[in-house]
Amino acid sequence: MERKVVLGVTGGIAAYKAVEICRRLVDAGVHVVPVLTEDATRFVGEVTFSALASEPVQRSLWGGDDPIPHTRLGQGADLVVVAPATARFIGTYAAGISDGLLTATVLATRAPVVVCPAMHTEMWEHPAVQENLATLRRRGVRVVEPAAGRLAGGDVGAGRLAEPAEIVATVLRLLGPGDLAGRRVVVSAGGTREPIDPVRVITNRSSGKQGHALAEAAAARQAEVVLVTTTDRPVPPGIRVVRVDTAAEMETAMTAEAARADVVVMAAAVADFRPKAAARSKLAKADGVPEIVLEPTPDILSGLGRTRRPGQVLVGFAAETDEVLDRAAAKLARKGVDLMVANDVSAAGVGFDHDTNAVTILGADGSRLEVPLTSKAAVADAVFDTVIARLPPHPVDDDKPRSNS
Ligand code: CTP
Repeated sequence: MERKVVLGVTGGIAAYKAVEICRRLVDAGVHVVPVLTEDATRFVGEVTFSALASEPVQRSLWGGDDPIPHTRLGQGADLVVVAPATARFIGTYAAGISDGLLTATVLATRAPVVVCPAMHTEMWEHPAVQENLATLRRRGVRVVEPAAGRLAGGDVGAGRLAEPAEIVATVLRLLGPGDLAGRRVVVSAGGTREPIDPVRVITNRSSGKQGHALAEAAAARQAEVVLVTTTDRPVPPGIRVVRVDTAAEMETAMTAEAARADVVVMAAAVADFRPKAAARSKLAKADGVPEIVLEPTPDILSGLGRTRRPGQVLVGFAAETDEVLDRAAAKLARKGVDLMVANDVSAAGVGFDHDTNAVTILGADGSRLEVPLTSKAAVADAVFDTVIARLPPHPVDDDKPRSNS
């Protein structure tokens, strides 16, 4: 599963450092849900967090779409980190008082909680604060101790928020590795473009969104990801991108990358036919209506199915308009894949250029998982949940010869 962290920010001058914590966690592939207290928003802009985090900022128990945010956030989190944590937050949490979304979230969670205090030295050393922290520690809360240094107003002493790098390292250590850590995943995305002449191409309506969502989901689970794509959509750091245009280029890239991969996902819409010979110069109207002779492109997925390594999980996509499941099942067998993700692109909100998708994941073992209309990110997660159940316990050994079966 994707690793989900609630980042609580309370009202202290160190709130600006939480921006850095947020960015570093997102870069590490963590899904970050920022929760700001009202006081926190006096120190740092909500917009900043909403732009950097995986979801918009949440600040209130009231007014959102979710009728029960106070329990949902805590229940859905793999970890809650509060940085900076003020004396007031620490006191309220230790006393078990739910006076807002953040305190409700830490009380409603069973996930590990990390508290990172930051306050003036006098407050930090006050027995009330120290006793509250002792209570929290006794209950299993991790406290990342503040450092000594410059504080608000120019004072110097203990109480300065620990460095963002230290806080992030603690969070990542407690989260543990993602379920694709140590695995190599290759994903193809987008529609290929087959040249007619130097300016014209034959292509299709694939946006690449689903393929990119798959690459991001694999990276969030800590896989080493290669994305072979025809689009120039932005890609988060950590994913290696190979940009291609034609089916032939995609075949070369996929074959090379798949040779080292544990999981290969062909989400790209590959053109089935290409002009036999692209004109060297732009075709002009004056030359008359061109007769374009087409030839088939290589079936990349079938090729990958024939040459795949033992233990490798191979996934195809089938965008259909009629007899969706039957056709997808036939393709699954024909192309020698483990999973075929079928979608009915004639249905509302499904497939090309939408942000949503609805699929059925068919397995070579006869399994069938329906994923009703949801985000392409959620579809990607469902695909990898299914993939992980089929992966051998250890990553594919690099030195093993490839099989031809
Ligand atoms: N695919 C491929 N190479 C091709 C065509 C398709 O690798 N030349 C892959 C797609 O990336 C997808 C799967 O095969 O994962 C199914 O693609 P689809 O276009 O539905 O299948 P086709 O074999 O083209 O079948 P048809 O056009 O007859 O529906």
